[in-house]
Amino acid sequence: MISNLLISFELNGKEIHIEAQPDRRVIDLLREDLGLTGPKESCGRGDCGSCSILVDGFVRLSCLMLAVQLNGRKIVTIEGLYGPKGLLHPVQDLFVELGALQCGFCTPGMIMTIIDLLNSNPRPSRDEIREAISGNICRCGAYQKILDAVETISERVSQR
Ligand code: FES
Ligand code: FES
Repeated sequence: MISNLLISFELNGKEIHIEAQPDRRVIDLLREDLGLTGPKESCGRGDCGSCSILVDGFVRLSCLMLAVQLNGRKIVTIEGLYGPKGLLHPVQDLFVELGALQCGFCTPGMIMTIIDLLNSNPRPSRDEIREAISGNICRCGAYQKILDAVETISERVSQR
């Protein structure tokens, strides 16, 4: 029998020490063992982006990562996003304000991808936004509103 491995990492600002089987996926660890259901599993093979999380500030697909790969890293899921004073993150705020979601299934992954984009490129063009979210599938087809929301936040950044 394969023994569990002890993994230590930071999750949404809290230190986590947890045992996991060597083949345990990150999406399962987050959703089933740690109760964070923001990251969603749809395709389970890297095609849809709904399971996206931030690992050391970069967007990663949690269905393609093993839990042991989290050791020593900083993880942020949609549950760990906060704006000033603990309110919604500005990207979440704009999604609500501009109605950039319908069923919301893709939204947590989409927002993590957008945050990664804005971290490296605070004022992306519409084409750059389109390229960045090309790995995130929205079954409801909310793409236009999503593009509008990201453009708006980048306009607001440039006006500061
Ligand atoms: S569930 Fe991970 S990319 Fe689709
Ligand atoms: S809002 Fe429904 S999948 Fe994107």
